[in-house]
Amino acid sequence: MPKIELTNLQKSYGAVSVIDGLNLTMEDGEFTVLVGPSGCGKSTTLRMIAGLETVTGGEIRIGGRDVTHLEPKERDLALVFQDYALYPHMNVAKNMSFALRLARYDKSKINSRVNEVAEMLGLTEYLNRKPAELSGGQRQRVAMGRALVRDASTFLFDEPLSNLDAKLRAQMRAELALMSKRIQKNMVYVTHDQVEAMTLGDRIVVMKSGKIMQVGTPEELYRSPANLFVAGFIGSPTMNFLDGELFEENGRLFAKGNGFALPLPDKRKAELATHTGRKIIIGLRPGNFFMGNGENALELPIILSEYIGAQSVLMSELGGQTITIEVSSEAPIPSGAPMEFLIEEEGIHLFDSKTEEAL
Ligand SMILES: Nc1ncnc2c1ncn2[C@@H]1O[C@H](COP(=O)(O)OP(=O)(O)OP(=O)(O)O)[C@@H](O)[C@H]1O
Ligand SMILES: [Mg+2]
Repeated sequence: MPKIELTNLQKSYGAVSVIDGLNLTMEDGEFTVLVGPSGCGKSTTLRMIAGLETVTGGEIRIGGRDVTHLEPKERDLALVFQDYALYPHMNVAKNMSFALRLARYDKSKINSRVNEVAEMLGLTEYLNRKPAELSGGQRQRVAMGRALVRDASTFLFDEPLSNLDAKLRAQMRAELALMSKRIQKNMVYVTHDQVEAMTLGDRIVVMKSGKIMQVGTPEELYRSPANLFVAGFIGSPTMNFLDGELFEENGRLFAKGNGFALPLPDKRKAELATHTGRKIIIGLRPGNFFMGNGENALELPIILSEYIGAQSVLMSELGGQTITIEVSSEAPIPSGAPMEFLIEEEGIHLFDSKTEEAL
């Protein structure tokens, strides 16, 4: 079965290491997204899988076969790149069937593949048009179609939607998600956009400086980020980070910051015991605040209130730092007067200040 295994994969340009010993297994039929900031090595990793970039060290296996030093065409892959170039003088059908014609597939097979994929991508009515007669989104779909008509075991995408405007990108993202469910092939998708990663990926690989920071489902990354980097990278608006320490009083454990103390669930006491008194970073998801009062409520100033319909994004202050709060609200929340908030326990994340690992 065509699963992809990267073992201690390395890439250096001269003395500069850009991929630093990646270990990753992508299961068959899975939609894997590589995500991370610009320059972290996503494209380099994808290009090594594709065979377009030599490997400095380590091994790549596809379906159990060592392909580390094989030519791209021996790897049974299809690629879609950001800078797709369609053949301007060929119509959509000809563009899409190019690889199949080159491989001398028979005509009826080519036609049925092209029709099937065009149907899937909503391109049926454009098959006779030239690229110049298409919108940007339609062109991008043709580029995708050109890869999808092939019987490859694995599809590799490098930021294929980056040239589109926000609305079209959201639409294409949804189409791609539907399509990948339907065709059930291996997909490896590179993006620097965490929203794209979260909505498309069965599994997400978060990278930073040529290293993997965490691998998980979208929910795992959102709920249990392994470190400060992933916590700050995944989720919008971004998680708030506050300096603090762990302390115990009357048998209860608190995450204490400058002028506030958040009670932690008793079930976390045992695992956190060794960290009591240590410096920590407290991470609070903007969406885990809610309006309410009671013993543990925090009275917070509303510096700025942005009403975005159904939700309000508030700028406030806690522990001497500016924080973001997101609450659902039917009406705009006025700025000026302070309000009381509670924080859901699962919205409180703790990190070691030195190692930046989650506690
Ligand atoms: N031919 C090269 N020579 C030297 N360094 C290179 C070369 N190609 C890429 N790099 C470096 O390797 C690192 C990883 O590049 P890569 O293109 O994989 O990043 P990326 O994660 O895809 O970023 P982006 O989101 O901007 O596309 C970068 O720091 C880049 O400068
Ligand atoms: Mg790139």
